[in-house]
Amino acid sequence: MNKLSAAITAVGAYVPDFILTNKLLEEMVDTNDEWITSRTGIKERRILKKEGAGTSYMAIKAAEELIQKRNLDPTEIDMIIVATATPDLQVSCTAAYVASEIGATNAFGYDLQAACSSFLFGMSTASSYIVSGRYKKVLLIGADKMSSIIDYTDRTTCIIFGDGAGAALFEPNEEGLGLQDEYLRTDGVGRNFLKIDAGGSQLPTSLETVQNRQHYVYQDGKSVFKFAVSNMADAAAKIMERNNLSDNDVTWLLPHQANMRIINATASRMGLDDSKVLVNIEKYGNTTSATLPLLMADFEKKFKKGDNLVFAAFGGGFTWGSIYLKWAYNS
Ligand code: UT7
Repeated sequence: MNKLSAAITAVGAYVPDFILTNKLLEEMVDTNDEWITSRTGIKERRILKKEGAGTSYMAIKAAEELIQKRNLDPTEIDMIIVATATPDLQVSCTAAYVASEIGATNAFGYDLQAACSSFLFGMSTASSYIVSGRYKKVLLIGADKMSSIIDYTDRTTCIIFGDGAGAALFEPNEEGLGLQDEYLRTDGVGRNFLKIDAGGSQLPTSLETVQNRQHYVYQDGKSVFKFAVSNMADAAAKIMERNNLSDNDVTWLLPHQANMRIINATASRMGLDDSKVLVNIEKYGNTTSATLPLLMADFEKKFKKGDNLVFAAFGGGFTWGSIYLKWAYNS
């Protein structure tokens, strides 16, 4: 028997209908389409407006699309990981609710939080459970309702983020396809550059924290940008080097969609032609845990069995890394 690896065998996605364009943002804060486009590459993002709906609403829709496309019996799913920085509720596990709602009655699951690297790190977790031989079907969902934690009077953050969800099914593979290698890193030096100050255990919510708008995302964009550019590019270059991949060997780069300039720097460091770099930031902005699965869902039809995919991400904490994966099916 060949060595077992963990392959992605199906993907699904969901984005809400409401489109927040740069033009609409011009009416909300002191910004303009030209600034946003040239500094970030973003033209519009999706916002979940449905009353009372949290991140799970989108995670369930993405999972349901995957289940339907793959004609999967949800009771066969062993495990569900919801990668998210915006769980529905504090304490109560979002993955448990998602599992029940999609009929995955035999699954256990949990949420995984590593800011914008949540899905990337989740790929490592999902793959490890498969390769260990303990589980056969692990559903990894990346979902974030960023609009629930963004201050729409702060032009430095509200132009960047959007809502969305994507899902990927991991299954055992004996053909050598699926996850090949990973380079994952964290550095607590990033703690104060990208965060929500209040509402956690360090500074619980109070009238004062709400009045000070400390329940919203704060980002020192310039500092995060500097770390992101060098670390995401380094991680992707390292994964190529370690696996003897030349630019010709890489079929597709799937970079976290935070800023077009960070994506370009990563691709250039890898020596990759633009045609191999997958981008949908113009449509969705930064959806945090959902960027990588949304890329897979949007570009699934282009992927061929055996294609070499390199994923790269960078996020708060700091957290970052790169994964090399061989695509396992033709769609
Ligand atoms: O996904 C998790 C990781 N996050 C990231 O990777 C994000 C990394 N950071 C970035 O993408 C960029 O730093 C931003 C897009 C957030 C900002 O771009 P920047 O080129 O670093 O701009 P800046 O913060 O240096 O600001 C330049 C100028 C400032 O004005 P002054 O001080 O030069 O007069 C800002 O006040 O642009 C101003 N500015 C804006 N102007 C129009 C900041 N935000 C806006 C805005 N519209 N929305």
